[in-house]
Amino acid sequence: MYDLIVLGGGPAGYIAAERAGDGGLSVALIEKQFLGGVCLNEGCIPSKTLLNSAKIYDYAKFSEKYGVTTKDAILDHGAVISRKNKVVKMLTAGVKAALKKSNVDIIDGIGMIMEKSEDGYIISVGDTEYKGKKLLIATGSSPAIPPIPGIEEGLKSGFVLTNREILNLKAIPKSLVIIGGGVVGIEMASYFNSAGSKVTVIEMLDHIGGEIDRDISNILFRNYKKKGIDFKLGSKLLELKGNTLLYDQDGKTSEMTADEVLISVGRRPVTEGLGLKNIGIELERGAIKTDDRGRTNVLGVYAAGDVNGKYMLAHAAYREAEVSVNDMLGIEDRLDYSVIPSVIYTSPEVAGVGYTEAGAKSAGIDYDMVNIPMQYSGRYMAENERGDGICKVLVDKSTKKLIGVHMIGSYTSEIIYGAGIMIQNGMNIDDIKKTVFPHPTVSEIIREAIFQL
Ligand code: NAI
Repeated sequence: MYDLIVLGGGPAGYIAAERAGDGGLSVALIEKQFLGGVCLNEGCIPSKTLLNSAKIYDYAKFSEKYGVTTKDAILDHGAVISRKNKVVKMLTAGVKAALKKSNVDIIDGIGMIMEKSEDGYIISVGDTEYKGKKLLIATGSSPAIPPIPGIEEGLKSGFVLTNREILNLKAIPKSLVIIGGGVVGIEMASYFNSAGSKVTVIEMLDHIGGEIDRDISNILFRNYKKKGIDFKLGSKLLELKGNTLLYDQDGKTSEMTADEVLISVGRRPVTEGLGLKNIGIELERGAIKTDDRGRTNVLGVYAAGDVNGKYMLAHAAYREAEVSVNDMLGIEDRLDYSVIPSVIYTSPEVAGVGYTEAGAKSAGIDYDMVNIPMQYSGRYMAENERGDGICKVLVDKSTKKLIGVHMIGSYTSEIIYGAGIMIQNGMNIDDIKKTVFPHPTVSEIIREAIFQL
């Protein structure tokens, strides 16, 4: 009998298991495929290694702008993928070691919830049954595959790819069509464009990047259009016929061909085949319904990460896992979903936390906003030839508290947590003015913006 059984070894599952183990619980973690989940094996980490290589390559190509002449730069995709595999291997080994250190039993196999027993839950893995007093479901998500004619066949033939296959492509396709201009779509467009593919993005909405600030979305769009990515906005894929794509743009059907197609139109929680019905777990729009402590409707059963359908982000999953474990340990903790940062690792990077203007408007918040160019930062100027980044800061008009920061430009992914801390701790303009930022850094842009208010 374990105190806790964790189903799934992605960011939510492994952090929950580690924290619970460190908290003195006996823990088993059941994983069917690989420790680290999608994020470590076929998502966040692999894509960041690829994007970093693209960034280095782009710098090399345009190094003359910075007074450096490089001989013909080459991006060796095979070498990039090998390095990615090495990074993933090292990090997965790290996860395994951390779990061992926290005394977690790792069980390889597919876990199935069988029934509730008097003092816990019975989970089967093959022929073996395990019992846990508590259960945390962290089975993640899988790519959404829209019911468009030709997609299933394309997936089978290898013409259509998801985030999984695209990160292991052996060669750079001459042409790549990406369905969905959200986070996965733009990050992959960024890499394959730098690597030499002719990239087209078909996006249903009239902008890219989903919920990000609209001014920032427009800057990103402009940058990538300039780099040669073709965007079909307000467009929907209708059908795939061989290597021909039929799509609708503003009511008109057009067609194009591609060497490969990436489907990145969102993800769906993985809830099938887990035996959720056996203990009556409630779902809401296909996701496991949880409260702000990660509790499901069934006593002692928690869910964290993508499977709860709230924020499909690894960093949200980490905190959800910790909140759930703290609840199990009797430690008061809640997750404040209003301060979860979002980042797109494009070049330039996009990062934001708190209310966007659109969000503040729809929440009826009276706010003051300042929007300044990143060029106000000396370091940004020193390092970016003709960079067009911006920083937008929103404060509540009556309390003068910071409620949102949204940026596009170098290092913003590394800076944004600072803004998150300020918002989470209710800092107002005066508090921030008294904070010392290191100089010269791009982070100073936040301080600079605050002084403009
Ligand atoms: P997403 O929800 O970010 O974007 C999907 C896009 O596809 C949307 O812009 C949507 O309007 C569009 N779309 C939907 N159906 C379409 C259709 N039939 N035709 C054309 N466009 C269509 O989903 P994505 O990019 O697949 O990412 C999945 C999840 O992974 C997201 O929750 C994302 O936040 C997360 N993720 C986060 C990353 C990060 O934090 N940097 C990196 C990669 C993924």
